[in-house]
Amino acid sequence: MSDSESTPSPATDVWTVRRILDWTIPHLKKHGSESPRLDAEILLAHARSCQRIQLYTQFDSPLTDEQRTMMRDLVKRRSAAEPVAYLVGHREFFGLDFRVTSDVLVPRPDTETLIVEAIERLKSLSQPRVLDVGTGSGCIAITLALNCRQSQVSAIDLSAAALEIAHQNAQKHAVADRIRFLHGDLFSPLAMDEQFDLISSNPPYIASAEIETLQPDVRLHEPRSALDGGVDGLDVIRRLVAEASRHLASAGCLLIEIACEQADAVTQLMAANGNYADIVVLKDLSKQPRVVRAIRKQ
Ligand SMILES: C[S@@+](CC[C@H](N)C(=O)[O-])C[C@H]1O[C@@H](n2cnc3c(N)ncnc32)[C@H](O)[C@@H]1O
Repeated sequence: MSDSESTPSPATDVWTVRRILDWTIPHLKKHGSESPRLDAEILLAHARSCQRIQLYTQFDSPLTDEQRTMMRDLVKRRSAAEPVAYLVGHREFFGLDFRVTSDVLVPRPDTETLIVEAIERLKSLSQPRVLDVGTGSGCIAITLALNCRQSQVSAIDLSAAALEIAHQNAQKHAVADRIRFLHGDLFSPLAMDEQFDLISSNPPYIASAEIETLQPDVRLHEPRSALDGGVDGLDVIRRLVAEASRHLASAGCLLIEIACEQADAVTQLMAANGNYADIVVLKDLSKQPRVVRAIRKQ
């Protein structure tokens, strides 16, 4: 949609839904999008304030000037690799809609592996105490609060801006009164003797040097503090493993999301710690190691 293209003269040149999509899809593909049709449809639905599915019944509808201006801005930003979730301001996770901004990691389907396991562990407990470390958008803490109605949830993040988004998401899902949001480094906001039945974390776990090799969407736009796990990617995980056992109740469960190649290193860290038993690696839907689970020894 260059400026000259955006001023149609004959009636046939009107910017309809179909024409915008026909122009945007190859444009986004040329600029590196791996899902140009999906991206174009999500952005256009956002500009038109409708559901994506509704576009299919509106192919011949013209866009208003306002919608066209908005779409032009969205396409420009998407072409510069800004994630679609930041452009439209939300992302679905475990069937729930979460507000996201560039202050938080975009929730990933990979993290649903941790959720499924956590729900399974929590279902036999009455009023379980749950802690989510590095809560970001709050997607883990809020999903667990919603799926385990008896749970009492705490959520910690080092980023005050991320905690603000997490709090907004908790309000949106009507669980703000059941989640305690705490600001600080790992377990530091907690009392020394505070214990939980389940501790979850999707920490930063990418090796610093690897960040430059990631897709520009991630590398240029997602918060580095949500990604960078230090030289070998294990800086935060090492501290989590060392410090979590103090805050786990007897037989409490620790769930940490990992990069697939970290499974051996993380299981070894847990085994060497001495406070954990039943250390198991869980795979995601692509059959990749995704979560390490350990139980606090009695
Ligand atoms: C990979 S993101 C995960 C966000 C969210 N839990 C999710 O699964 O989408 C990691 C989060 O950990 C937070 N974080 C990084 N280092 C931390 C630390 N030392 N203490 C607490 N939070 C930390 C980051 O701010 C970021 O929000």
